[in-house]
Amino acid sequence: MKYAVVTGTSKGLGESIAKLLMQASFHVIGIARNGNKQLENADYPGAYTHFAGDLSNIEQTTEVFNQIIKNLKQQKNIESLHLVQNAALIHPIEQAGKQEPTLIEKHMRVNLVTPMMITNQWLDAWRDSSFPLVMVNVTSGAADRNVYGWTAYGASKAGLNRYTRTVALEQEELQTGNKVFLFDPSIMDTDMQGEIRSSEPSQFIEVEQFKNYKTNNKLRSTDVVAKVLVDRLLDEENIKNGEYYSVKDIF
Ligand SMILES: NC(=O)c1ccc[n+]([C@@H]2O[C@H](COP(=O)([O-])OP(=O)(O)OC[C@H]3O[C@@H](n4cnc5c(N)ncnc54)[C@H](OP(=O)(O)O)[C@@H]3O)[C@@H](O)[C@H]2O)c1
Repeated sequence: MKYAVVTGTSKGLGESIAKLLMQASFHVIGIARNGNKQLENADYPGAYTHFAGDLSNIEQTTEVFNQIIKNLKQQKNIESLHLVQNAALIHPIEQAGKQEPTLIEKHMRVNLVTPMMITNQWLDAWRDSSFPLVMVNVTSGAADRNVYGWTAYGASKAGLNRYTRTVALEQEELQTGNKVFLFDPSIMDTDMQGEIRSSEPSQFIEVEQFKNYKTNNKLRSTDVVAKVLVDRLLDEENIKNGEYYSVKDIF
């Protein structure tokens, strides 16, 4: 059996990734605060198991992953094990100096600290496994671009990029066969984009341009973007450790 753990499966890109993996016969284990009835009730070759968890809560996340790892270790037939860290938030959308401190902390936990902790826990748990691990972290072009109002988002995604590339370097040096790469989905039609459009120009200077993306149908559908990610994920031999892979490389 092929297994994939995907964070942020209640909606958006994570839901589409889970769906495509299930269609490819994966047993998907999804994590988000909200469940996903469509995935749970879907009639695909692969199954779906949901774990409700708040990824801004470090203790809860560690416990959820302990449980997931324990359940997986009871399976004797693991052919492959993929980890997709997709969950993230965009808020605070606000200039530095006007942000809610607790929101900054929550943002950095969900977008950076938690993915680092999960990666650490995952590599430790499967150190002696017979199959190589494939991990992908979902990033954003905002990691390499200064965007007025997205200080936290740019910082968390830039940190995620450096972290991912450094883990890749270590896994290469250690010759584990494990691979980790970055995926940039570019702009997609999700709730996150709705949150961006609802900000004030004083908070996010580019808001009019993002409203135009929606009006002019420039936002890709999550199913289209997820297919690019999943195709890459399943082409294990050709994944380069630490590579930055963008949907824009395809179309
Ligand atoms: N949308 C874009 O245009 C765009 C562009 C570039 C990069 N990205 C990246 O693509 C990825 C997916 O974005 P999206 O647009 O699909 O976002 P979305 O529609 O807002 O969905 C975010 C997902 O993350 C989960 N999540 C958020 N906070 C969480 C928390 N505290 N605990 C557990 N789960 C949490 C949400 O689940 P719950 O709310 O149920 O917990 C949801 O399933 C993100 O990494 C984002 O940075 C998006």
